[in-house]
Amino acid sequence: MKLSHPSITLVSFLSLIFLSTISAQTCQRTCGKQILTFPFGSDPGCGDPRFQQYVTCDQQKLTFTTHTGSYFVTNIDYANQVIYISDPSMSTCSCTQPSKGFGLDWDAPFTFHDDTIFALLDCSVSSSPIYSLNGLYGDGNNSKVPLCDNQGTPICSYLYSCTPISTINLPISTCCIYAPVNLGPSFEMDLKKLQCTSYSGFYSFNGQDSNPENWNYGIALKYKFNVNNEYPITCAQCERSLGVCGYTGVYNSFICNCPNGLNTSSNCFFGASYNNGLRLLPLKNGAWLMYILAWALVLVLL
Ligand SMILES: *[C@@H]1O[C@H](CO)[C@@H](O)[C@H](O)[C@H]1NC(C)=O
Ligand SMILES: *[C@@H]1O[C@H](CO)[C@@H](O)[C@H](O)[C@H]1NC(C)=O
Repeated sequence: MKLSHPSITLVSFLSLIFLSTISAQTCQRTCGKQILTFPFGSDPGCGDPRFQQYVTCDQQKLTFTTHTGSYFVTNIDYANQVIYISDPSMSTCSCTQPSKGFGLDWDAPFTFHDDTIFALLDCSVSSSPIYSLNGLYGDGNNSKVPLCDNQGTPICSYLYSCTPISTINLPISTCCIYAPVNLGPSFEMDLKKLQCTSYSGFYSFNGQDSNPENWNYGIALKYKFNVNNEYPITCAQCERSLGVCGYTGVYNSFICNCPNGLNTSSNCFFGASYNNGLRLLPLKNGAWLMYILAWALVLVLL
């Protein structure tokens, strides 16, 4: 019995479909439109374990979480190692709204980017600690920290020219430009404690200093790969072989999650050593069996 060419093509086509269905790569390369590479990961076990708990892919939306809430990641600048987030409770030139503030977790691998400027809005001039001489911490002379940046007064004027803010008709003295350097060791902007009702944050004037409508609102955060800020070589090699960097086990040891769904301790190129001990092509044992059976069937039928 002789099989025609189309049948052989069909069998190999079916085995290919079979292979691609079992070979789902756990770690995704994108989350929505955002490209994901190290140190960020789509799922637990992907990316760098230090980052995974703070940046997660939630229903194709990249989310940044701190003790103050969850925020959308609007962009990641991998070249400059900056992550941009937006806080839905933040006020902008087009809307003002109350907010509880924003804070970073002290143990999270992020710091405020120097470009980030916070404007505290509608602060109580009589009772807010940002205006009192004893400052926030109230421990005598050392605490006389200038919490508002006087150089920032023009920023307050521009913000107060925005219609939603101007209609509240507040004196400009209730606006405080609060640079991240003032946020102190707690990385915290607690508006209740500071007695302000809302805040605005932005990271660029977008080339139009006097036009707050076009400023880039949001928060820019810096991150580092490690203490030396070096991209891990094993991860770079894994990515070059189309793998996604991840981690596993109690020691969070490095794994390379390959396009066929398998994990290796090095990279996805032919001959790499696999976690499950298979040292052949990057296919699961069962997949190999089915593949060989499919071709045996073709040969028998020939
Ligand atoms: C590969 O690693 C990922 C991330 O750690 C994990 O979710 C997945 O189950 C692993 N796959 C295999 C086949 O071990
Ligand atoms: C604060 O500093 C001034 C002079 O530097 C000193 O005279 C004063 O006693 C200090 N006050 C306190 C509470 O330490």
